[in-house]
Amino acid sequence: MGGEIRFLLNDTEISLTEAGSRDTLLDFLRLNRRLTGTKEGCAEGDCGACTVLVGRLHHGHMHYEPINACIRFLASCHGCHVVTVEHLRGADGGLHPVQAAMVEHHGSQCGFCTPGFVMALYGLWMQNPRPDMLAIETALQGNLCRCTGYEPIVKAAFAAGEAGGQNFDALTVERDRVMAALIAMPRERVQVSRGDDRAILPADAADLAAVLAENPKATIVAGATDVGLWVTKFLRDISPAVFIGHLTDLKRIEITPGQISIGAGVTYSEFEPFILQHFPEALDYWRRIGGWQVRNAGTIGGNVANGSPIGETPPLLIALGATMTLRSTEGARDIAVEDFFIDYGKQDRRPGEFVESIHIPLKGDARIAAYKVSKRHHADITASAAAFHIETDGTTIIDARVAFGGMAATPKRARAAEAALKGQPFAAESFEAAAKAVANDFQPLSDWRASAAYRQTLAANFFRRFWLEQSGQEHRLRRVE
Ligand SMILES: Cc1cc2nc3c(=O)[nH]c(=O)nc-3n(C[C@H](O)[C@H](O)[C@H](O)COP(=O)(O)OP(=O)(O)OC[C@H]3O[C@@H](n4cnc5c(N)ncnc54)[C@H](O)[C@@H]3O)c2cc1C
Ligand code: FES
Ligand code: FES
Repeated sequence: MGGEIRFLLNDTEISLTEAGSRDTLLDFLRLNRRLTGTKEGCAEGDCGACTVLVGRLHHGHMHYEPINACIRFLASCHGCHVVTVEHLRGADGGLHPVQAAMVEHHGSQCGFCTPGFVMALYGLWMQNPRPDMLAIETALQGNLCRCTGYEPIVKAAFAAGEAGGQNFDALTVERDRVMAALIAMPRERVQVSRGDDRAILPADAADLAAVLAENPKATIVAGATDVGLWVTKFLRDISPAVFIGHLTDLKRIEITPGQISIGAGVTYSEFEPFILQHFPEALDYWRRIGGWQVRNAGTIGGNVANGSPIGETPPLLIALGATMTLRSTEGARDIAVEDFFIDYGKQDRRPGEFVESIHIPLKGDARIAAYKVSKRHHADITASAAAFHIETDGTTIIDARVAFGGMAATPKRARAAEAALKGQPFAAESFEAAAKAVANDFQPLSDWRASAAYRQTLAANFFRRFWLEQSGQEHRLRRVE
């Protein structure tokens, strides 16, 4: 077992023998290393002022993504390359092309948000040298600017793409050295602490089971896009925390003829190409989860395991008929995702168990849709969400699975509405009957996101919208590419 957290910070190798589970990367950067270019705005993953790039080895390549340093725990940086705005420079040692484009196009006024925007645009510039408008909008979903306005920033994003220069960028030039340094970092179990506060990084999934058997009350931390807020907003104690975001055996995606299996540690961004390939109808829904930084960190396993009634993947997974594998030192068991959610805050997870993987059946010809309604289009919490999986023989509805979030204490199927659809003609009247029947499925709450009556109306209208789309009477609201 190792007793050091090791990672690369820009071009400096960091080795920490003392760290607490709750230490954030942002505090380390600003308070310990005095790298104050990275800003703190909201401390909850919403504003992007703290955006840094985190690079990690993935199938023998370095993969860099923007993430929010405010809700990233320091211990989870083990084995990574953390890149802050201070590391940016142009080929001549002056401004980086992204920074030069921001200056040229007046992309900054007060400047507080600017390093975060620069880092998100830097991540985009690395991954997509010639982005279109949709790619730029998607990359900037997680960054807020209160004074400049987005048009100059978008212009800067286009201009940076035109300027090019990726081959001369520091992260390209240094790549071999960075990879060699990361490969040299040991992959054994790591434990560090500060006083009683402990952070543990298991060596692999089998070791995770052993760690949880030894520490059944431990907090599992994957992408920390939920747990991070428990610490920054609620000052909760999470020790001992078991970090799993680095476990490559929880990051596998396997496709067999009838099924796609997703490791619990797969992030939204990692799964997005598979959504595009297998469930393109859900792509817009997928890209509305958090902002880009959140999707680069947040995992599908974390979204299911947290048991939230407004998590976005559970309605989709339930509608698609997904199952999940839970593992412990006692072995593995499979359950339907819908059965995992017992009641508010109560899931079917036994002490020592973790979510290992999720399995979605692939049925070629079903009609699928996923909808989310929130106060803002991007980076906002769901008022209500619905996912549809409807099978027909061309004229009759053979099977209907319709699941909702935000309507009950757990994500839940609309059984009465499903019954109103099954065996009925694939026609407007059937969806109108389901729109009426769904009133019997849920007694939603009123809260600051939406009133109960509004949620009931939404639920009914999702059925009408589904029919209008399926019958070609309504164009999809957003482009699907
Ligand atoms: C700004 C912002 C916007 C967001 N927007 C959305 C949104 O639009 N839609 C949405 O659904 N969510 C949203 N979220 C919530 C969050 O991103 C998701 O719930 C995310 O999927 C959680 O995954 P994670 O890996 O970050 O989990 P973590 O925060 O690491 O963990 C979440 C919970 O799951 C447990 N856990 C994690 N992995 C496992 C595992 N393998 N086995 C057992 N337990 C596990 C943890 O112990 C914890 O209880 C947002 C969050 C932020 C900060
Ligand atoms: S400080 Fe706002 S996202 Fe981190
Ligand atoms: S330049 Fe002031 S918040 Fe963006």
